[in-house]
Amino acid sequence: MQADKDEIRARNDIVEVLGAYVSLRKRGRNWQGLCPFHQEKTPSFHADPVTQTFRCFGCGASGDVFTFIERHENMTFVEAAELLARRVGLSFARQGAPGPPPGERERLYDANARAAEFYRGVLEKAAAPRDYLQRRGLAKGTLERFALGFAPEGWTSLVGFLRSRKVDLRDAEKAGLLHVGRTGEHYDAFRQRIVFPIHDEQERIVGFGGRAMGEEQPKYLNTGETPIFAKSRLLYGLPFARRKVAAEGRSLLMEGYMDVIAAHQAGFGSALATLGTSLTEEHARKLARLAPVVVLVYDADNAGIRATLRASEILEKEGAEVRVVRLPEGDDPDSLLRRGESAAFQRAVDGALGRVEYQLERVLATSSTADDAALARTLRKIVAILATVPSRAERDAYMERVWRVHPLSVHGPGVAKEQLHRDAEAYAAGARGAGRQPARPVLPPSQAGGAPPTPAHGPSAAERAEAQILRALAEPRWRRVALGAAAPDDMVTPFGRELIQFVSAHAEELAMDEEGLVSLLDRDAEPAFSLAARERLQEFGMITQKEPLTQALIEGSLRTLRRHRMEALKSELVRFLKDQGELTSADRDRVAELNRLLRELQSSSGAAP
Ligand code: UTP
Ligand code: MN
Repeated sequence: MQADKDEIRARNDIVEVLGAYVSLRKRGRNWQGLCPFHQEKTPSFHADPVTQTFRCFGCGASGDVFTFIERHENMTFVEAAELLARRVGLSFARQGAPGPPPGERERLYDANARAAEFYRGVLEKAAAPRDYLQRRGLAKGTLERFALGFAPEGWTSLVGFLRSRKVDLRDAEKAGLLHVGRTGEHYDAFRQRIVFPIHDEQERIVGFGGRAMGEEQPKYLNTGETPIFAKSRLLYGLPFARRKVAAEGRSLLMEGYMDVIAAHQAGFGSALATLGTSLTEEHARKLARLAPVVVLVYDADNAGIRATLRASEILEKEGAEVRVVRLPEGDDPDSLLRRGESAAFQRAVDGALGRVEYQLERVLATSSTADDAALARTLRKIVAILATVPSRAERDAYMERVWRVHPLSVHGPGVAKEQLHRDAEAYAAGARGAGRQPARPVLPPSQAGGAPPTPAHGPSAAERAEAQILRALAEPRWRRVALGAAAPDDMVTPFGRELIQFVSAHAEELAMDEEGLVSLLDRDAEPAFSLAARERLQEFGMITQKEPLTQALIEGSLRTLRRHRMEALKSELVRFLKDQGELTSADRDRVAELNRLLRELQSSSGAAP
């Protein structure tokens, strides 16, 4: 029997259908959530169960279930109607009556469903892979729930099965299940691998991950990009986790297929993973809509830490609140849970840190405060992190963990915190750009108190000079010249110092890859710093465009910076000697240090004292 449009609409409740895509909450008669059609942080998307329509007051999108599916799935009306009909067990347009043949997407879903059926059948009878999965601690029910299968050896096992089921091999090829050999014949893409079907939000199988049973490489082989499979959008485990995520108000984001499965089996039903790719904006948007909090459960190795920082930056941009779980070194969720450490895992999740706390803790754990230079570097990192917190009150709370590191802490927490606030604000202002928000020149915390008067408007001469040096660092032609001439301490803003340090630490990599500063920042720098740097560098390009870089300009800028620094050192010296009657031995050391720096500067710049 053919269903018509009205019947399909009547059977597909708008709140239920949209609920699979948007996390909706009841507000009066309507249901509300974050609009999937534009980026927002407060919900302006409404679904009305009475009129069976939706509307976004932010971007104006509106319509019924069909419109929603057409737009969200990028489908034609007929495809959307098919999807909705199938959802409630009706048929539309295709069966029983002459109509258009199934669309390509439908055929690819079908090929995948057939393949999954084949792989499952093979696994039921294959002893070795069953043993393997049992050794990895997976119960029979878990295998069934996640529809695990096994791709047998041989080149045409799946080919033969699909043929017998009348699946067009070209569709199977398009779905990534088969490849074509040189002579044009099809062969199986997955061979001798445990296969993990990957579902989309509507629980259709769109691809597979295949794990080798031994040490063969690659360990995991995944479906490549197909019309229905995009790694940058898919989250493994989403259909299984969606409800728990919404109920708990948070998702647990992991790195691997096995992590997700082990977590679900141990009762952590809100576990999801990306497909071995780093988190994209699309993933982040999806996660932010499922629940406001995303708990990152990545490995404790360096790659995991880097991935955590990257993912945090992207998730926060999409409006999610990030928490970071710290697992024991060398463990992933699967290995921990397989040892039966559910309680330890639960504790790790409960003890997850906020993003800022996590970053601060990492700096404290990995940085030295042994000597002045190391302390200054550590403080700069701390300031860069604090600068990502716009609210002063919040920042103040975070400082509880770090103010003791500050040299001014000898004068009490208030003094140290105040200086950290000022540095963080200047850093943030620097990141926003000197043009709009006149940035105060900020001395390193250890030189606090000696800063020259704050200019009332616009960037100071020193800041403009610093901008020239930083611009030179970004240009492959001038990088070496600038690095040879200028040192971190010549810079007047914490940002400038950090950038020059970053560039000199990566000088070799940069020399090999001439255009790479921005991508290197993206990859290797702290997210907050990388973001600031990208914005700042773009601005330098604009501020100084008119003036082409020359050796003379770089040297002139450097002279300006050195002069500025000398002025600052001198005024600090003067204050020391004026204000303090009795000098402590630390003060005397500082005075000697200031004098030494001044002499050094004088000789290096040839300027008069
Ligand atoms: P891991 O190497 O951490 O593997 O990769 P794992 O999840 O702990 O796997 P097991 O426990 O050894 O079975 C994490 C994820 O990265 C992707 C997969 O999605 C994997 O789950 N990956 C890894 C690949 O896509 N290809 C690879 O070769 C390796
Ligand atoms: Mn693992």
